[in-house]
Amino acid sequence: MVKIAPSILDVNMDDLENEIKDVVVAGADYIHIDVMDGKFVPNETQGLKMLKVAKKATDITLDVHFMVENPKEYMQEFIENSDIITFHVEAADENTREEIIQLLRSKGKKIGMSIKPNTSIEVLIPYLNKIDMVLVMTVEPGFGLQKLIPETIEKIKELRKLKPELDIEVDGGINIETAKLVKEAGANILVAGTAVFKSENRKQAIEELRK
Ligand code: DX5
Ligand code: ZN
Repeated sequence: MVKIAPSILDVNMDDLENEIKDVVVAGADYIHIDVMDGKFVPNETQGLKMLKVAKKATDITLDVHFMVENPKEYMQEFIENSDIITFHVEAADENTREEIIQLLRSKGKKIGMSIKPNTSIEVLIPYLNKIDMVLVMTVEPGFGLQKLIPETIEKIKELRKLKPELDIEVDGGINIETAKLVKEAGANILVAGTAVFKSENRKQAIEELRK
């Protein structure tokens, strides 16, 4: 079944705990936490603070997306409270990728690798048997409220063909219309910021994205 992972990027920090509880009650499968360092992407987030609040607010899966230049060092403080940790292939050389995979395995965490819209899936192929999830960015990472880049759909299809059982997550510009396209292409975990948090009826929004 398709899972929905509301992304808490644009949520007011003071309301964060209640907002997370609200989307959990509305049916969220995961909470997606964007960690940005102002270097790998122009934007910065208070990732660790968000994660700690999320951990306090809920028991559901915490899905942490690192958009940082040095993911291996950066993620150390996050590991304990996370369930899935995703890092960008563009931010880690081959040795570092292997080290991160080993580190997360040893801690019993799920491992995700992400590609930006201009990165081809070829780079992921050597890792597909070692990781749990691929995160295909459907917008340039950094900001919510962008439009899905249609060329990214083909990458989802190719990955699904290569790995029928792999978790494929998509992130950026997901709404009722684009959800249909990415699901048809083979994505099974949909990150949604605007489409859930800015909706008047979050339960309905999550149900519609999922079905
Ligand atoms: C973008 C972030 C996304 C973003 C999605 O870099 O990784 O998680 O919050 O927001 P929407 O759903 O509004 O595109
Ligand atoms: Zn994200």
